Amino acid sequence: MSLTRLHHLRAEIRRHDRLYYVEARPEIGDADYDALYRELEALERAHPEWLTPDSPTQRVGGAPLSAFKQVRHNPAMMSLDKTHSRVDLIDFDAFLRRQLPGEVWDYVVEPKIDGVAFSLLYENGAITRSATRGNGEVGDDITANVKTIRSIPLSLTEAPELLEVRGEVYMTRTGFAELNRREEEAGREPFMNPRNAAAGSLKQLDPREVARRPLDAVIYAAGSVKGATFTTHGGMLKQFADWGFKTPPWQRLCVDIHAVLAAIDELEAQRHSFPFEIDGAVVKVNRRDLYPLLGSTAKSPRWARAFKYEPERAETRIWKITVQVGRTGVLTPVAELEPVLLAGSEIARATLHNADEIARKDIRVGDRVWVVKAGDVIPAIESVLTEKRDGTETVFAMPSACPECGGAAARIGDEVAHRCTNPACPAQRVGRLEHFASRDALDIRAVGGKVAEALVAQEWVKDPLDLFALTLQQLEDFRIGDGTAGTRKFGKNAQTALEALEAARTLTLDRWLFATGIPNVGVTVAEQIASAHKRFSELPDSPTLTAVLRLNELYDLAAAVNPRSTLNRPKDDAEREERQTRFNRICGEIGVLGDDLVAAGVATKTPATALPTQYSCVIKTEAAKAVLNFFASAYGKRYLERLLALGIDPHAKPKASAAADAPLAGVTFVLTGTLSLPRGDYAAKIKAAGGIVQEAVSKNTRYLVAGAEAGAAKITKARSLGTEILDEAGLLALLSGTPARTPEAKRPSPKPSSKTTATTPFQQQELF
Ligand code: IVH
Repeated sequence: MSLTRLHHLRAEIRRHDRLYYVEARPEIGDADYDALYRELEALERAHPEWLTPDSPTQRVGGAPLSAFKQVRHNPAMMSLDKTHSRVDLIDFDAFLRRQLPGEVWDYVVEPKIDGVAFSLLYENGAITRSATRGNGEVGDDITANVKTIRSIPLSLTEAPELLEVRGEVYMTRTGFAELNRREEEAGREPFMNPRNAAAGSLKQLDPREVARRPLDAVIYAAGSVKGATFTTHGGMLKQFADWGFKTPPWQRLCVDIHAVLAAIDELEAQRHSFPFEIDGAVVKVNRRDLYPLLGSTAKSPRWARAFKYEPERAETRIWKITVQVGRTGVLTPVAELEPVLLAGSEIARATLHNADEIARKDIRVGDRVWVVKAGDVIPAIESVLTEKRDGTETVFAMPSACPECGGAAARIGDEVAHRCTNPACPAQRVGRLEHFASRDALDIRAVGGKVAEALVAQEWVKDPLDLFALTLQQLEDFRIGDGTAGTRKFGKNAQTALEALEAARTLTLDRWLFATGIPNVGVTVAEQIASAHKRFSELPDSPTLTAVLRLNELYDLAAAVNPRSTLNRPKDDAEREERQTRFNRICGEIGVLGDDLVAAGVATKTPATALPTQYSCVIKTEAAKAVLNFFASAYGKRYLERLLALGIDPHAKPKASAAADAPLAGVTFVLTGTLSLPRGDYAAKIKAAGGIVQEAVSKNTRYLVAGAEAGAAKITKARSLGTEILDEAGLLALLSGTPARTPEAKRPSPKPSSKTTATTPFQQQELF
């Protein structure tokens, strides 16, 4: 019965995904969709054995990678010959006529989407691999990342045996603007344009981070295909759309090259009405049977041409450079421009990002400049027309005082940004409050924008934690505005705000850590750090964060004393010996710290190519440093004291929260030796049942599963730590929820069974 329901839910969610993400005509609202999704999640949690990789719940999965695997393209992914000239297109048509005497064909014109080319492979309808174009021959395996793109079907119905499609991953202009807003807020360098943002996002090793990036994809070509043939390009696109892919949203079938030229003009006129950037048009011969006759050059097929539009830019003058102050105190220089019309709107300001950017482009006040729309939304200065300088231009220097509060502004450490160092700066106070109340932080509705400004201006809130002292009466009477027209009372919103504040008290560590607004600690970093801690109050003295920093130092030290260094060779045997001793000691310490981090679930061991052993840690040094520095600062200390005084000490969310009531929730395993299935398959089964698979045995390991020819070192370590050692049958028993003896097991399997096997006892353990 519930299996039928599960299939129904999956089919419905797939149908709604397609309606929403591919066809842009949703039939149901978010709440109804969420209800379907949650029901499916619950069913899969109750029946992990029903989980399949193509379930809509499996878009974001898997641990962060340490590197991308390489994929060889077969056939190679070609590029297109490009031209800016209409005459070239007429020549192209004339060339084809000479090559194909007696043949008749038409053309298809499509937008050339400015994104990242990729390939996508389906075997018997199931997605099996996706790769970047790379150099055309070999690209990166980005399957886990691409699966997070919701317009890409995870499975196809009535698909051929083998189908490799090719297309473009891109970011919409609004998605790009939103992402850059988040990046700048977190004090990171913004992306230059949507294409860089899309490429940068696909290069992320953590699919959970990719899932947060607003990526989309269009399919416009075929790679290798078995079990289907396409006669025309237009027909192929139609078939792609029927399979559920997003195809170019604008296509024109043109009878001859003159119709092609007209289509190119039509597209150029509409170029800015697309939600994504297009940098030209692609002209393709429609009849696919002509492709083998035409062949290709070394790099590009002869049956297609790209026509590139001129980038839109406008000339104007910078009359002043002003400085804005953001939430974390980052000072952003902004060029105030003589207003100019660009891509349909009037531009009067352009961000200059930071002092380095100004220096790199040698931008001066009074300069005549080319303005472009980076990602067609945010105007940027492309370059300076230095030949138009008359000597009156002045070099700009970042102010040493914050323009909002007069506090000292400085560059801290090796950051590119200048920051206001005064935590009482009103601009920062508003920014911090808005951030604290934002959706990914504590989600305190009603305390954003104008309200945050008014709360700070009227000195009701200096620090976000002051919110918790406000009473209903005070909030109801609170006036937003400066007393002139438009001033209103907070009124009914007071109740909403107080309820949200009450709810915020019990939000988890990751949300509070993000809300605290520490530079370099965005949503993902906060989640990663939170996953290695139980309580907020542990953070200031966190052994994990200290270990991350120490590990980094040790790698530097190891490099400096390495006796085999070719750049810094020991001068004699005595020095070599002495350095070898120090090197061994450092490597030993790296091993101990690294194993602890692996055990804490924040690092993985990567195969050592050279000594010392490489650990790759999900918590980056700069993030660990930022958190420790924050709690060591006077403000950070006071913040934590106040939080604890409010009775708030946020706790981590349960590990593998989705599987909290799964049979192996929170139980840690290490696998070694040969089992009857690949270890990865067992790891997936353990994870599906809520368990955690670690790489190395540590005091946090619950079970070591030892197959044939198991690693002796792992077994010795497990014995020394008293870790239970299971054989394959023991693991299977646990997976089937049939522990051998469960006298005191608090959390019985969801499928009670009377079967017992003579394997290891499943002992009661504290799960969180
Ligand atoms: S067809 C064998 N169609 O432009 C030809 N390419 O240099 C396969 N692009 O690498 C490409 N929009 O990244 C094709 N509608 C479109 C396109 C498109 C963008 C990109 C693609 C390719 C580059 C050509």
